[in-house]
Amino acid sequence: MAQSGHEFIERNVAWLIVLCILVVSVGGLVEIVPLFFQKSTTQPVTGVKPYEPVRLVGRDIYLREGCYNCHSQMIRPFRAETERYGHYSVAGEFVYDHPFQWGSKRTGPDLARVGGRYSDDWHRIHLLNPRDVVPESNMPAYRWLDRPVGGVDVRARMRALKLAGVPYSDQDIEAAPKALEGVTELDALVAYLQGLGTAIKTVR
Ligand code: HEC
Repeated sequence: MAQSGHEFIERNVAWLIVLCILVVSVGGLVEIVPLFFQKSTTQPVTGVKPYEPVRLVGRDIYLREGCYNCHSQMIRPFRAETERYGHYSVAGEFVYDHPFQWGSKRTGPDLARVGGRYSDDWHRIHLLNPRDVVPESNMPAYRWLDRPVGGVDVRARMRALKLAGVPYSDQDIEAAPKALEGVTELDALVAYLQGLGTAIKTVR
């Protein structure tokens, strides 16, 4: 009996490899490519705005200090998560995040909707020494944050983000350094945290 097509492929490793790669590539492209064109993943949800200079600098401090090593920023659509953290995260909340901070490591709680949950003062005390407000906390104390944001070229940051598609105007960029006058790293980080996830209002 003549060899069936299937049998031929299974017996010829080179063909098997080539055809497997083809199938996986087509399957991958079909899943991935539409994400670059769908409105739900490319358009900001109502209320999401590009980070203003102070929050942008705060976000950079968040990255510098490695907060993402213990905190995710992505609430999954499961009941246990939405009851604890609020509305699950949607792609349109992150269109201005380059790079996004979703993560999956949760030594501490998810921070995707921490904005507005505590007062600014709570955050200040907590960041300088977490154990002053949460005695059992094992989060590190970031005592050095109470210093001016010095030497940050915020204009360069904004121009780079503009290249990545964030709609900063030339005036926004021009005026940015002024907004940082007299601002401490602690102020900036707290401003960043207080804005997280606030575009979608949630009842908790
Ligand atoms: C070694 C792990 C670790 C690192 C690094 C870390 N945290 Fe935490 N964080 C925790 C833990 C654990 C908690 C829960 C206890 C507490 O509230 O202190 C927490 C709680 C928090 C909370 C309160 C969240 C809530 O919903 O109650 C905020 C806000 C926060 N961290 C911000 C930060 C920021 C900003 C940084 C970086 C400057 C940071 N964390 C770095 C472990 C960490």
